[in-house]
Amino acid sequence: MSNPSLLILAGDGIGPEVMTEVQRIIAWYGDKRGLNFDVSEDLVGGAAYDAHGVPLHDDTMAKAQEVDAVLLGAVGGPAYDDLDFSVKPERGLLRLRKEMDLFANLRPAQCFDALADFSSLKKDIVAGLDIMIVRELTSGSYFGEPRGIFTENNERVGINTQRYTESEIDRVARAAFELARKRGGKLCSMEKANVMESGILWRDVVTEVHAADYSDIELSHMYADNGAMQLVRAPKQFDVILTDNLFGDLLSDCAAMLTGSLGMLPSASLGAPMENGRPKAMYEPVHGSAPDISGQGKANPCACILSFAMALRYSFDQGAEADRLEAAVESVLASGVRTADLMQADGGTPASTTEMGDAVIAALDASL
Ligand code: IPM
Ligand code: MG
Repeated sequence: MSNPSLLILAGDGIGPEVMTEVQRIIAWYGDKRGLNFDVSEDLVGGAAYDAHGVPLHDDTMAKAQEVDAVLLGAVGGPAYDDLDFSVKPERGLLRLRKEMDLFANLRPAQCFDALADFSSLKKDIVAGLDIMIVRELTSGSYFGEPRGIFTENNERVGINTQRYTESEIDRVARAAFELARKRGGKLCSMEKANVMESGILWRDVVTEVHAADYSDIELSHMYADNGAMQLVRAPKQFDVILTDNLFGDLLSDCAAMLTGSLGMLPSASLGAPMENGRPKAMYEPVHGSAPDISGQGKANPCACILSFAMALRYSFDQGAEADRLEAAVESVLASGVRTADLMQADGGTPASTTEMGDAVIAALDASL
């Protein structure tokens, strides 16, 4: 049997720096665990624009459709701020999500004990936090038509459309209920059914899916604005949160900061199963390209490394190896080795991106 295939799209800013560390981890799994991957690399975002004049070349899109999983770093940067909307770096990412039909975006927000002091909230509110946000990723106001800037009555009108079909809600709800079943058995669905018809439909469909197939799961519904408030008031009340594309974008950034640093959070974007049974999949850190620190060797590679752990778990059925990698990251943090984003003002010398990678690899070695 051939090795599973990975396409690495490191992208812009700190993307290539953090991905270099992930490549070392991938190599470690080949050397030490006999888990070999066929790795190829290509361009996305500003890097692709510089080379091809588009943020994602058609050939790259075709490769992404072929591989078992895509690992993405980050896209965007100030150099591309003035580009036409259609070729902005973010369009490359959105095209991958849409054309691979990666409808379920899993964004875990876990507070490692060693980092509880870094949260903007009090330690007892976040210590032990472990929630999973499931964000719908291929529809809603990110993609709904009509969209555009038009002229009406001699003035410009900007239009985006919040639109969800039943089947779109149904499939992402099932993905979230399945996760809830493997976790704490609770799911909270968030929308704005008080003001939006799409929210009413969302609530109806989630309720129907629950009644039909998941009545063992404890289901609750919340308006998304209240959800944001509850996330900062008492985040440990949640297990799985299910929400749409735009609310999910906001709520996941909010949940991310509860854990202390955006530099820690991975994500998985999953679609329907392919012929080989694996889901279409892309894994990426939740953080962006961080142009302010790019090229300085300061970036925290943990989110990208933990994204690879999610790939081991969700694409390659290697849950034990994913546990191993997550435990390695956790032990490094507990040992006090940290990048600058996780240092107190008087915390000593921060580790560089490469030193953090070294420490994770040493912890992996120690786990054998
Ligand atoms: C995210 C990002 C993206 C989004 C941007 C980069 C297009 O904020 O993955 O959360 O809005 O979805
Ligand atoms: Mg976002």
